[in-house]
Amino acid sequence: MAGDAGITEVVSRARSAFRSAFEREPAWAAAAPGRVNLIGEHTDYNDGFALPMAIDLWTVALAAPAVGEVSRIVAADLRQRAELRLSRPIDPNTCPPGEWASYIAGVASLLLVGAGVSPAPSHPGELDLLVASSLPVGSGLASSAAMETAVSVLLEQAWGVTTSPRERAALCRRAENQYAGVPCGLMDQFISSYARAGTAMLLDCRTGQGQPIPMPPPSRIRIVIADTGVRHALAGGEYAARRSVCAAAAGKLGVPALRDVSPEMVEARRGSLTPEELRAARHVTTENARTLAAAEALRSGDLAALGRLMAASHASLRDDFRVSSPELDTLVELAAGVPGVIGARMTGGGFGGCVVILGAPESVRLLGRELTAGYRARHGRDCAVLTTDAAGGARPIVPA
Ligand code: GLA
Repeated sequence: MAGDAGITEVVSRARSAFRSAFEREPAWAAAAPGRVNLIGEHTDYNDGFALPMAIDLWTVALAAPAVGEVSRIVAADLRQRAELRLSRPIDPNTCPPGEWASYIAGVASLLLVGAGVSPAPSHPGELDLLVASSLPVGSGLASSAAMETAVSVLLEQAWGVTTSPRERAALCRRAENQYAGVPCGLMDQFISSYARAGTAMLLDCRTGQGQPIPMPPPSRIRIVIADTGVRHALAGGEYAARRSVCAAAAGKLGVPALRDVSPEMVEARRGSLTPEELRAARHVTTENARTLAAAEALRSGDLAALGRLMAASHASLRDDFRVSSPELDTLVELAAGVPGVIGARMTGGGFGGCVVILGAPESVRLLGRELTAGYRARHGRDCAVLTTDAAGGARPIVPA
């Protein structure tokens, strides 16, 4: 399928790592993509709108029935192993926040408890399980959501359990909130589970509904991601702090979430907010409006309007919400100066990570050169630049 070519490489690497770790073939396999968000940042936990798409970078999870009493789990890229009892719910308080094994424990436990299932009697409870990924960890491309989602699709097969993509996204988000200690919204898990190849998804984070919006063909637009190489840790305080400020602002404005107010209402009531709450409320309300306008621009093929909205989103995240960084600002600025570039902005939670750039196909080569040279000159380090198509969502795959 277009946009999904990158699965093959990860599957073959994962399969050989599985053979060396467990000395047999896997019985089940699943893949889930990372994502890039075109616009609609820090809106998901405010019940607002986002416009993400899946990218052709994947996490693959493989498993076979355990040979012993416990599940052995391996993170191939980290070269780490752990032992768990996956078939019995694990208390979130016993999981170290941010640890890769906590994500897997969380998905398994919530599948058992939340979905009210136990492994079917004919299915093994404990598994030998391995994950491998082409997604860089902590770069703002939703590597943790891809791992949760791939593991959920894998366990659903191994345990004979059925969920819908929407239920799975909600479950994986809860796993991240409760077991990994990251108070994220729904966007990443939703798009990893629900993406449609060749489209971006207008996500309404209040209703959990997504509307696929076709991306222009690669002959008209290329999706470029540039990585600052600066890693974030969302379990750290800044992300949670932004969430609290948004909740406080909504409380003072007398609404359940910032989704329920317009930028004009925020201005009219600015006297009731602290300066920090005012800036946060201004970002979220204008970003919601920009996201809906961007979806419309994409639908009608008005790429110049889309580019302007992306630029305004970046400025709002930098100046009002204050989650950008000098490295992200440099990449956005460099990209904006390249002929044929349609739009550029930081993507994901911020404080490092990646920028997303939309450009005409003929701009891509020069863009790569300008970003690499300009970034090195200003920050003394390299940035990785990659081009992707809009990929499809999580799926079971044939294991061997
Ligand atoms: C991270 C979180 C998402 C979302 C973005 C910011 O990626 O996991 O839920 O809040 O940051 O838009």
